[in-house]
Formats: sequence, structure tokens, C-alpha cells
Amino acid sequence: MAFSEGKFQDVLSEFAATTDFIKEVATNFQKDLQIGLRDPKSSSMRMLKSYVGLPTGKETGEFLALDFGGTNVRVLRIKLEGEGRYEVIKKVGEPLIIPGKYDYIGKNSTADEMFGFLARLIDEAIDGDHSTKFYLGHTFSFPSTQDDLNNAKLIIWTKEFATPGVEGKVVNDLLLDALKKRGIENVVPVAVINDTVAVLLSAAYQQSEVYTGSIYATGHNTCYLESSIKDPKGFGQGGMILNLECGNFMKLTPNRFDVALDRNSEKPGEQRFEKMVSGRYMGELFSMAVAELLDSDKKFDFTSIDMSEIVSDDSENLERAAAIIEEKTGAKLELADLKKIKELDEAIIVRSARLVTSSYVGIVWQRANGGEIETQHVAVDGSVYEKMPLVQENINKAFTELLGKDAAKVDTILDNGGSGLGAAIAAAMAVS
Ligand code: GLC
Repeated sequence: MAFSEGKFQDVLSEFAATTDFIKEVATNFQKDLQIGLRDPKSSSMRMLKSYVGLPTGKETGEFLALDFGGTNVRVLRIKLEGEGRYEVIKKVGEPLIIPGKYDYIGKNSTADEMFGFLARLIDEAIDGDHSTKFYLGHTFSFPSTQDDLNNAKLIIWTKEFATPGVEGKVVNDLLLDALKKRGIENVVPVAVINDTVAVLLSAAYQQSEVYTGSIYATGHNTCYLESSIKDPKGFGQGGMILNLECGNFMKLTPNRFDVALDRNSEKPGEQRFEKMVSGRYMGELFSMAVAELLDSDKKFDFTSIDMSEIVSDDSENLERAAAIIEEKTGAKLELADLKKIKELDEAIIVRSARLVTSSYVGIVWQRANGGEIETQHVAVDGSVYEKMPLVQENINKAFTELLGKDAAKVDTILDNGGSGLGAAIAAAMAVS
């Protein structure tokens, strides 16, 4: 059976992101930033203060870094050597969920179990040493309110995390409690930051002209240095980093697949932008669109990794793509249909990259404040940015469409592993 061309074009057109559309998104993003700077409650983004500015690059010393926010938890011992240099002395890590074995992020888990698991990893990273003092920087990658650099209260879980008993709590209290239960009193948490802030700190530690940090992975979010806000305690320079929580940006029209995905998600109405662009959700959008093309009521479970493999299949007969599609849907498709599914896959990835770029441009415009755009690098970490085919080239293309000749001044750079390093830098800034 071949899909009807009309139906295919209809589904495909849902994922179109024309130049006009992304211009509108960039403009609305900047407007929402401006609204949020006046009154964060009126913006669709939370625009959370981080109570830290940029590092000098001269921070030194040994710190513990706890990186919590994706599927894996990592604890690192990092020695900052100044001049942008550092050494990872020890690194331990484990997933928060192994299906069939344990699950610390589902509805049936508890805060005690989750933080007990973190304390165990910390214990491992310090080799059971319960006497040497360790300052800990904590990357906690969920929307949290802060009144200072050292405490963060979780507003709401995102990325389909559902552990009861953490929302509304100060995560430091939960962590300290869990450490105490293991007899660890020598680990002193001194800074909690979002992973986007960690990426920005890490990139700015190592090079100049970086004011924006972003995660483009399971989830999506960005922070930037807002020069007009000063940190009263004076941690860092250049103003204060704002964690936008732009995964919650809502001033753009979703398509019908976005609407259906949101409706069936853990938190309907929340994180609409993230649900259109991030790795956690792209596979689901693709699954729904493929189901429609195949006239199937089944819920397929393509992941963004499957999507990457399908678009990377450049063989004449698309054998690899065919195998993945057959495995996931049970359907053996003709080559013409396989090509269409590959085209749909590309369209979803390209839309994601173009929308994310619009948000970066909204920030670039905002920092320029009507004046000249400065030369700058947007630091990005995350598997989608790093590994998904088509993403980086489409970011560059969209920069050119949105910024014209100023596109030469702006690029993205990979800040691999910034989540851990940034936590260590934040800790160093806090105790300096
Ligand atoms: C989600 C979280 C946000 C985090 C992002 C990337 O959007 O709400 O805090 O930065 O995922 O991990």
C-alpha cells in the first residue's frame, strides 16, 4: 500500500517551519523576555534568577560536582586549575532508572529513595572518606526558585519525572538529610544551579564572548547573562544569569500532533516548546505522525535515536530505515513510502533546530537591546545538538535567515560535559 500523496503532504506540512514563522517566533521570544524582565509572572517563561554571574576563569581548587537532571546521575571530583583548565579526578555515574530493576523517577518512587541514591553515589565519589571537607556544587536541572546561590526549591518536575514528595521542597534539605543518613557530614553543598547555567559557566570559564548557555537534549532550556540585574552577593561578573525555563515558552502555534502529545503527557499545558523540540518528545511526535500515515491506532515508540538512524540511512534501498520501521510498526513498506517517512523524520528534526535557533536569536536581540549585535558564541550541550543529524547545519542556516549579515557574529559551540564542570565552578565562586 502506498500512502496517498495528499495525506502525506498534509502531515508533512504540519511540521513546516518557514522563514516567516521562525522570524515570528524569534520576535515573540524576545517580547516574552522583555515582559518577563518587567514581571516574570506575565511571561510564559519562568526567567529564574540564578544568583550568579560569569566566572573569571581564574577559579581554582578541588570540588565535588553532582549532576542531576537527565536519565543519568553523575558525581565528579574536579580540580580547577585556573586559566580555563581543569582535571576530572574521579567520576561515578548511574542511571536513575533501569526498567525492570529499579526506578527512582516514576510515580511509585519516593523522595527518600531518590536522594538516598544520590547520597550513595556521592559516597562512592569520595571513596567513603567521611572526614575530609568537600564543597559540593549541584547541577539540578528542573525549574526551581532561588533566593540565593545555595538553595533551590523545585517548582514542578519536567521531562516526565514524577517522584512524589520533591515538588515544593528545597532540594538542598533533601540532599543534606540523605547525606546525614549515610553518616556523611563532611560534604558541604554550597551552590545549586540549573544545567543551562552550568553550561554557560563552563564555557565562559574556558573562553570569552559567551553569554548564553543551552541544553538541547532530553529536555531543552536556555539561560543568558542579563546585564541589568546585579547579584547582591556579587558572585561572578557581568550581571546575573537568568535561567529562562524556555521549555515552557508558549507564544507559538503548536500543530495538531503537538496538541495531542501535550494532552497525553505527564503535565498537560506545561513545557509546550520543549515538547516541540527536545529529544524526549521528538520520537513521540514522529510515532504519532507515522501512525496517521499508516492508518494505525497503535502507539508506536520511535525514539530520537531511531529517528537519527533513519535519517542517516543514505543507502539506495533504505534497508536500515526499513528494518527500524518494520521493527517498530510491523509494516513492510515500499521504497516510495520509506522515502516519505524519512522526509517526515527530517522535517521534524529541521523544525526543532529552526525553532531552537529562533529562541537563541530572541536572546541575541535582547542582549543587543536595539544596538549592534556583539560577536558571541552560544554554548550548547546535549545529545540532540551533538549527535542528531541535520541539527547543527539547520541551526546555522536559520541564523543566516534570521540575522542576515550579523549571522557571521553568532555561532553555537559544543560544551561537552559542562553540567559537571559548571557545578564545580559555581562551588568555587561560592566559597571564594
Ligand atoms: C527541562 C527543565 C530545565 C532543564 C532542561 C534541560 O526543561 O525544566 O530546568 O534545564 O530540561 O535539562
